[in-house]
Formats: sequence, structure tokens, C-alpha cells
Amino acid sequence: MTQTSLLFLVFMTMLYKGTSIHIHNHKGKGVGVNWGTQSTQQLPADKVVKMLRDNGFNKLKLFEADENILGALMGTDIEVMLALPNKMLRNLSEDPDAAASWVDAYVTSYSYPGGVHIKYVAVGNEPFLKSYNGIYLHCTLPALRNIQRALDHSRHGSNVKVTVPFNADVYYSPDSNPVPSAGDFRPELRDSTIEIIQFLHSNDAPFTVNSYPFLSLYLGDDFFPVDYAFFDGANKPVKDGDLLYTNVFDANLDTLLSALSKAGYPDMKIIVGEVGWPTDGDKNANIQNANKFNQGLLRHVLSGNGTPLRKGVIDIYLFSLMDENAKSVAPGSFERHWGLFEYDGKPKYELDLSGLEKNKDLVPAEDVKYMPKRWCVLNPDAIDLDDLPDSIDYACSRSDCTSLGYGSSCNHLSVEGNASYAFNMYYQVNGQQIWDCDFFGLAMVTDEDPSDENCLFPVMISYGAAVLLHGGVSDTVVKVIWGSYMFLGFLLLYI
Ligand SMILES: *[C@@H]1O[C@H](CO)[C@@H](O)[C@H](O)[C@H]1NC(C)=O
Ligand SMILES: *[C@@H]1O[C@H](CO)[C@@H](O)[C@H](O)[C@H]1NC(C)=O
Repeated sequence: MTQTSLLFLVFMTMLYKGTSIHIHNHKGKGVGVNWGTQSTQQLPADKVVKMLRDNGFNKLKLFEADENILGALMGTDIEVMLALPNKMLRNLSEDPDAAASWVDAYVTSYSYPGGVHIKYVAVGNEPFLKSYNGIYLHCTLPALRNIQRALDHSRHGSNVKVTVPFNADVYYSPDSNPVPSAGDFRPELRDSTIEIIQFLHSNDAPFTVNSYPFLSLYLGDDFFPVDYAFFDGANKPVKDGDLLYTNVFDANLDTLLSALSKAGYPDMKIIVGEVGWPTDGDKNANIQNANKFNQGLLRHVLSGNGTPLRKGVIDIYLFSLMDENAKSVAPGSFERHWGLFEYDGKPKYELDLSGLEKNKDLVPAEDVKYMPKRWCVLNPDAIDLDDLPDSIDYACSRSDCTSLGYGSSCNHLSVEGNASYAFNMYYQVNGQQIWDCDFFGLAMVTDEDPSDENCLFPVMISYGAAVLLHGGVSDTVVKVIWGSYMFLGFLLLYI
């Protein structure tokens, strides 16, 4: 090779590197996002992956291994944290073979050049949450060990790290001294949590924590000033020794860092597995607050300023990508409204994922197919309204009326408006079947959009099944069963 061609090669390599750095550098660098799939109708995985790439997200967290999603991620450079659901923990803890087959099926089969870049396996999701009453307390670590062994055995042990996303309720600071430096793990969880930390630390794996300033605000209005939930200015910083805290996110992470230091792991790597703000379903859940929180969060975590106890960029996964209308509302109605994007991949607000607040437009999903522009509403000619409350309850319990409640976007509707909202949701999530817009003659189909400025009566996207089921039964089977069930119901009404 001549000197010129060598130089040329070096030059081309530099150029190539330059381009690739440029590509990897676009907005979204360093910010991950959670993609949950508990929705009645789902965008095709390839459209969502396109949307992730168009927005520059290069880190993704999934709650379950889903072959459609993994297939759509093949050949992308999106780094994936792939989670195992809690319901598998007991089995995985007792059965090393089950761990090995999971790793084979979802890590080994996808981890090759041109495959999926799986970087973490999250074993369980918030397994020590108080509301689980300790059922996962003793099987989480054995499951973690079995997954790690299976990874080591298939030679992925060094490039794929295991972790456990914990809820921030595994640590606390006492009411008598509510400052970050007093942080420690909850006494009843202390030993189990520290055993897991020890294991993660020995594998150079991170501690993952889900952090929810919104929930702190939701659970106790006066616990801290509202401004303290956001990142835009510090009216009353909380003093902790020499350190000043101006936001609850930092205070929360430093409470964890103090707990880790006390346990002997001051250098433990930390990932924030979920953090975000919902846009509906509560008085504090709206577009304005979500925008303020998320933009403040991105500016802060990407700035490198870190928390008072630890400098540097903070590794976060936003919660969440899109609204999920079939999530449990046990935590509150807001639970179905965490998305940066609506159910159909439309951005809800402007957000600059680079944290620099320059390029604010999120890119929507492309070529989304909707069902026809039809709505189901209360029939204005209906006379006998005795069945109305029961019909509303029925429709709501089988669809999603979380936008109707106190403090929500459709709370201003009249009783009639409520009925129309409920009927429409039921009709839409069931795929606009004519027999789903009847309600004993109370309902009728219209092509006039009943939405107002604040309250959206959605027309759903035309993908997927009417009913959400997890695992086992395929969508088609569900559709058929549901279809025949509805058909029977329809017959019964008319004989
Ligand atoms: C774990 O699950 C696998 C596959 O579903 C099953 O074959 C195995 O018997 C289970 N093991 C235990 C200990 O329940
Ligand atoms: C509409 O429904 C919501 C949620 O159930 C309720 O809070 C509200 O009071 C209802 N509105 C009227 C006018 O009944």
C-alpha cells in the first residue's frame, strides 16, 4: 500500500468515524425510554422502532421479551434493557434450566452483529414493592443468580449485565430527620436488598431505581413544596449539612447513595429505570406539568452537574413512550397517561431530548392507520334513562374512562357527556363493532366528532385485538373468542 492510499484510508476512517459520531450524537443521546405494551390497540412494532430512531432514542427498556418487538429492533443500534416479569421469578429461582432457556431464546438468539443490542437483563420489576407483601423477597436473588449463570454459560456474561429495577420505596430517610444523608434501606428489606447489591456489584452491574416525584406529590400534597418537584428554580432549598437540595429527584437519588454508602457500596453504579410525569387522570397530571418536569429533568440529567453527592451525567429511562389504556389503575387514574406520545404515536408536547432546549419537536409515528371517523354517543332521543348509570359503569369497566375523573381532561362533561364518553371508549377499544354501540338503545353511532377543546373522544388506531391478554393465547384467538361472545350477547338481546 502506498503512503497516499494509506493516508487516504486513514482520512476515510476518520470521516467515517466522524459521520458515525454525528449519527449517534443526534438528540436523545444518553436518554432512554420505557416501551410498555398494555394497550387495547397497538401500533406495529416497526412503526414504533422507526419513531424511536427518528427521535434519536438510543436506549430502550422493555417489560417483557416480545418477539415482534425484538424482531423490529434487529439491525438497529438501540441498546436494550430486557426485563423478565415478576411472575417468572419463582420459576427462574427454582429452575436453572428455565433461566437457561430464557437466555437462549431472548439473549443468545438475538445477540449477534446485525441482531439486537441487548445490554441489560432486568430480573423482575420492583419485586420488593410494599404492595406485593414480600412474595418475591426470597426468590429474586436466586433468579438473578440463575440468569447470570445462564448468561456466563452462553458467554454473554461480560457484555450483558443483569440488574433489578427497584421502586424507590426500598429506601427512606426517617421522618425525624428527612434529609438525604440520613437515607437507608428499609429495615425489613435491608438484608435482602444488600445481598442483591453485593451480587450486582461483584458483576460490575448497576443498581436500577424507579424515581417518581409525581407520586411523592400525589401521595402527600404538603410533604414538600410543589416547585421542589420540578427543576426550575429553588425557592426554598432544603439544607443537608453543607449540601443544598433544590429538587426532589436529586434528594431521592442522594438518599439512595447514602443508603448504598452505609451498606459499603459508595461507588455503586446507578441507573434510573423509570422517571416521568403523567398528563391526565389527576389534578397535577397535565401537559403543562409533564412538559415542565420532563424538560427540566432532561436539562438536569444531561448537564453533567449530577446530584450534590455525585457529579456526572445521570443515566435515565423516561417513563414512558406511549399511553397504555389497559394498565391497572390501582395506583391511580394517571397510570394510563404517562406517555410522551399518545396511543397513536402523536407527541403530546414539545420536548428537546438533548436537554439543550433547541430542537423541541418530537417526531410522530408515520402512516398510522385509524378506524373510520365514527363515534358512539348517547342517543339524544333516548327517553328511558334508568339504565344509564349501569350502562356507563359497564362501558367504563371494560374500556378506559380515566379522563372523566376529578382533575382530568374530561371532568367538565355533563352526565350526558359522560355517557357519550363511556359509550365511545367501549365502542372504540372493541374495534367499532356495531353491536358495541347499543346499550339497550341508549347509544347511537355518529360521524360528528363529539370532542371539545380539552376533552378528546378518540378514534382508535386500527391495529390489534379488542382485548388485552398477557401471554399464552394469541391475539387472533382472543379476537375470535371475544367476537363470538359478543355475537352471543347480541343474539340474546334480540330473541
Ligand atoms: C418452570 O417453567 C418451565 C417452562 O414453563 C417448566 O417446564 C418447569 O417445570 C418450571 N419449573 C418449576 C420449578 O416450576
Ligand atoms: C362524570 O363522571 C365522572 C367520573 O365518574 C364524575 O366524577 C363526574 O362527576 C361525572 N359528571 C357528572 C356531571 O355526573
